[in-house]
Amino acid sequence: MKLFVTGGAGFIGSNFVLYWLCHHPDDIIVNYDALTYAGNLENIKELEGNSHHIFVRGDICDAVLVEQSMKACDMVVHFAAESHVDRSIMDPSAFVKTNVLGTQVLLDAAKKIGVQRFHHVSTDEVFGSLDLGSSEKFNESTSYSPHSPYSASKAGSDHLVRAYADTYGLPITITNCSNNYGPYQFPEKLFGLAITNILEEKKVPVYTPGNQVRDWLFVEDHCRAIELVLLKGKVGETYCVGGLTKDVTNMEIVKMILSLMGKGEDVIELVKDRPGHDVRYAIDWTKIQKELGWEPTVILEQGLQKTVEWYTTHQEWWKNIKSGSYTTYYEKQYTQR
Ligand code: NAD
Ligand code: DAU
Repeated sequence: MKLFVTGGAGFIGSNFVLYWLCHHPDDIIVNYDALTYAGNLENIKELEGNSHHIFVRGDICDAVLVEQSMKACDMVVHFAAESHVDRSIMDPSAFVKTNVLGTQVLLDAAKKIGVQRFHHVSTDEVFGSLDLGSSEKFNESTSYSPHSPYSASKAGSDHLVRAYADTYGLPITITNCSNNYGPYQFPEKLFGLAITNILEEKKVPVYTPGNQVRDWLFVEDHCRAIELVLLKGKVGETYCVGGLTKDVTNMEIVKMILSLMGKGEDVIELVKDRPGHDVRYAIDWTKIQKELGWEPTVILEQGLQKTVEWYTTHQEWWKNIKSGSYTTYYEKQYTQR
């Protein structure tokens, strides 16, 4: 099988490409990525010289290059996106361009080429926010209520994907998953930022009041879920994918990381909250469990340990990132607010 993977030099995309070629070594992956600030060839360095991995640097909005690169591919797995909520609040335009227009360009190419499957990787953020303290969870029938420019653009992309299925019969599947964590996550997101700041002896910014809740999913569990959806999932279906956490607050997460790293809580700095901040996410992953036999396997304590170890032993990787334009972003986000 030949897969056309977008965003395969980013966090989840690179984990997926490495996972897939490890478990399906006879397949070929065309890895199409624009290498924005979040894309990094270091993530897929171990694939250098592997003839089953073809890297194409390109923008998903470039219809000509997309069509040319997707030719003869059987399946599309679409990860490429602007993915960071705080950046979408600073400047939404790139989010609409890549996440909405870029997805439409890919859908057009997939329709023209006649792929067997277009799999769209989406997020639980499209569903909005749950009440703190409630036991409610998002599932496949939860209605959409996005609050940030990022989640609104992802919601737009989900609607387009379903519209191409309904209108043109494109064989699609969608996964809406919760917060991923693990190796190769860009250190602007909570886990990578907290761990690397601690390693740099810096403060750890927690958005006030720190009681917000996310559903944490170890990235390899997510890759397995996508694998199952591609191999056994029903065309036209959506699957919600979540982790094994039970309502852990951001403050508790940071304290767990500090304890694992043997550091005191005095480095925690409560900073101004994110505008429009969703307070609670939780995923009901019963459908994918019942229909495809998937369930998450990595508990938070175990995943955190692995993630801390990874950042501790890959300091060159994140130190290269935490310089240049990252510094400008960090100052704008955390100093000037
Ligand atoms: P990321 O920001 O780490 O990586 C995004 C990748 O897409 C980068 O390699 C970047 O270079 C590439 N890219 C961006 N714009 C592009 C364009 N115009 N053309 C081609 N490539 C482009 O993102 P991630 O965290 O790995 O997320 C991957 C996907 O999963 C996204 O669609 C995101 O919405 C979704 N998702 C992420 C999470 C999470 O917790 N990280 C959770 C749910 C869903
Ligand atoms: O839920 C899935 C989503 O998870 C994905 O769709 C997004 O692409 C991904 O970025 C992630 O979004 P979040 O906004 O939930 O992730 P982030 O790591 O930015 O923040 C997690 C929580 O931690 C959130 O409540 C905000 C808080 N936070 C974040 C940062 C960066 C802090 O308290 N301090 C911080 O410095």
